[in-house]
Order: sequence, then structure tokens, then C-alpha cells
Amino acid sequence: MNSTDSPTDAPTVLGWAPGRVNLIGDHTDYMGGLVMPMAIQFRTVIAGHRGGGAIKLTSGAVPGGLDVDLPVTDAAATEPRWGRHVAAVAQLLGTVEGLRGHIESDIPLGAGLSSSAAVSVAAALALDAPGDAIDIARLCQRAEQLATGVPCGVMDQMAVLAARRDHALLLDCSTMQVEHVPLPASASWWVVHSGQERELASSQYAQRRADCEVAERLVGPLPSAELADIEAIDDPRIRARARHVRSECRRVRDFAEALRAGDLPSAGRLMDASHDSLRDDFEVSSPALERVVGMLRGTPGVYGARLTGAGFGGCVVALCEPTVRLDGWQVTASDGALAGDRR
Ligand code: GLA
Repeated sequence: MNSTDSPTDAPTVLGWAPGRVNLIGDHTDYMGGLVMPMAIQFRTVIAGHRGGGAIKLTSGAVPGGLDVDLPVTDAAATEPRWGRHVAAVAQLLGTVEGLRGHIESDIPLGAGLSSSAAVSVAAALALDAPGDAIDIARLCQRAEQLATGVPCGVMDQMAVLAARRDHALLLDCSTMQVEHVPLPASASWWVVHSGQERELASSQYAQRRADCEVAERLVGPLPSAELADIEAIDDPRIRARARHVRSECRRVRDFAEALRAGDLPSAGRLMDASHDSLRDDFEVSSPALERVVGMLRGTPGVYGARLTGAGFGGCVVALCEPTVRLDGWQVTASDGALAGDRR
């Protein structure tokens, strides 16, 4: 009997990745803009053995295991759905050597905390994907697009790979340059679920991205476009989308400054402004998100609150005084999967 036949043996491969929350900078990554997520304490772990001609994973988080033959040719058709993220990574890597093991996760599903990016990154590491954090992030971004059909950006994958404990990750998605911004010890971060799953996210997301691409053809790269050129765009919808991307990138920069200066009231105001722009110019909020944001803004000790991630449901992130307690998850800035690694 070889090691692949005995999944109860101590695992010989391990891939893990955390979830993430985006503090500010949404719907900017796919237009080459700035984002500022942090990895959080929840994580997904894949442990097992290499060998055989299939990927077989049991799961403690959701019923149903993954059993897919290699090489994978149609990851998007894989069942169960979470297995598509693993299968897509294997398809893009051209993996032929199998993996047998187990997957565990405590990242809340469907909340916009990048549970799927964590699955693909954990799978990429377990399948020994080559390259550095940027190479693996790009691979997993393509895997996400293949698995879901959503033309996502690269923020989530970079956050769960390259983030650093006690820091937020300032990422310029045009150059892929990363800066680790220390988080003030007096800042407390909460994530509150709106109660709404993000079902409409995929088709709406693609439409928003297409709107931005129309704007880019008119005025050039949106993060650095002239405001006068944006205000001259005829179509009010396209104009508003472009205005959001440009203003959001400026808010990310100012937010990083405010955090470096320990100025939490200013950081909170920038989060509020970001939310308002996502609601009014980008139209990705929802009544459920508005209720939570309104409630949080009326709570003493909350500096600012905004929807986080793609929108259309999911979660709100709030910057709070340390004494505040909310009905949600208090999250801490954790290491990404390759945080301390110079590969
Ligand atoms: C999702 C995508 C990211 C990013 C956000 C919105 O999380 O996966 O690439 O576009 O939405 O900021």
C-alpha cells in the first residue's frame, strides 16, 4: 500500500490560505487602481498526500467530497461547486499527479470574505504551483474566472497570499506593487453580515466592469483620468462609474495616510465616503446593506462603515473604537499564505 492509499497517515502536503476583508478600494482592481484589504484570522486548509491520477478531497465544511480525474478539462462543470476552484487551479496548472486529502475552512461562505480565493490559493500551494506571490495570485485569479465566469480582479488572491499580520495591504493593481501599512493598535475592525447572500453578484459585476471599460476607452486609465474629461462623458451611467473608480483610488491613498498618522476619525470618514460612492455612482449597494450601514453609523464609537467586496449583499466592514461590540465578527489582520516567504 503506498501513501496515497492511507489518507489517515500524517499529511505530506499542506496548502492553506486566509480569508480577507477589503478595508477600502472596491471595484478598482480590475481597472488598474488601488485597493487596501487585510487578511483575516479565518482560514482554509488542504492537507493530504500526492499520488494517483485524481484529486479526491473530503470536506468538513460542506457535505459532498471532490473526486475529479486528471488532467482536468472542464473545471466549470465540476461538482460540488466549491470543488470548481480546486479543479480550475489543476486545469490551469496542467496537473497530472493526483492529490488525496481533506479540506477544512472556518471562513464564512457567501459573505464576501473571499472564501473562494482561499480555496484556490490553498489548492495552488498544495499542488505546488510555481512562482512568487504575484504569479500564484494571477494563476488563482484566472482559476476564479474559469470556475465562476466572473471577470474578477486580482485583489482577493494577492490579499490572501501577500498580506502581513497587523498590517493592511496597499496594492497598486497596475504595477502589482505592494506596501504593508501598519494598523494602529487602537483600531478595531468589525465585519457585519447584511443577511443577504450575493446571488446577483456575477452578472452585475460583469456589467459594472464593462461600463468601466467603455469609460476607459473614452478618457484613458480611470485611476489617473482628468476629472474634467470624466465629467464630459455624455452617458450619465458611464460617467458615474468612472467617477467612482477615480475618486475611490484617491480615497485609498488618503486612507493609508490617515492610518499611518493614527487619525481614525479621518479614516472612518473616508470609509463612509467610499460607501456612498459605491451606492450612488457604482450602484452596488442594496436595501439590506443600507440598513446595516445606517445602523452602524448611528452606533457610538463607530468611526466609519462601508460595504466590502463586490456588493449586492454580503458584508459591511466598520472601523471602531476598541470598546465597541457588534453583532458580527471582530477581525484581526493576519498573515497571508506567503507573508513571510521570499519565494
Ligand atoms: C470581488 C472580486 C475582486 C474585486 C471586488 C470588488 O471580490 O473578486 O477582484 O473586484 O469584488 O472590489
